[in-house]
Amino acid sequence: MHDDLSAEREHVPITCVNDATFDTGLRAAELDPERPKPVETPWGMMALYSIGGRVHCVQAFCPHLDGPLFEGSLAGNVITCPWHGWRYDVTSGARVDLFRARFGDAAKPLARCEVSESSRGTLVLRPV
Ligand code: FES
Repeated sequence: MHDDLSAEREHVPITCVNDATFDTGLRAAELDPERPKPVETPWGMMALYSIGGRVHCVQAFCPHLDGPLFEGSLAGNVITCPWHGWRYDVTSGARVDLFRARFGDAAKPLARCEVSESSRGTLVLRPV
């Protein structure tokens, strides 16, 4: 599955377009709390996490070396990258490793989207 997603993914840094929204066509009830759902968006591949009845959205691939962050292990709000173990809080996008770097790219938070529901009940993303 990862190979297919990697092939489709644009290899450019994710940037946010603040005046745009994207309807995923998915409903919150379709999400598995055990497994983040990758979604192709106008801003690159993002991943939806259903945690405690709320849906959160952060970039699907790791800022370090493009590892498949969404395939990492999830404990509470924290996802651990399966490649080198960088850890992020998916509710804020913040890196939360014990020895995290404080400066430069290593300290940058994940790109994130606000998640709302359309009148049809589908999940709508808006970069924050
Ligand atoms: S690619 Fe994710 S920690 Fe290295």
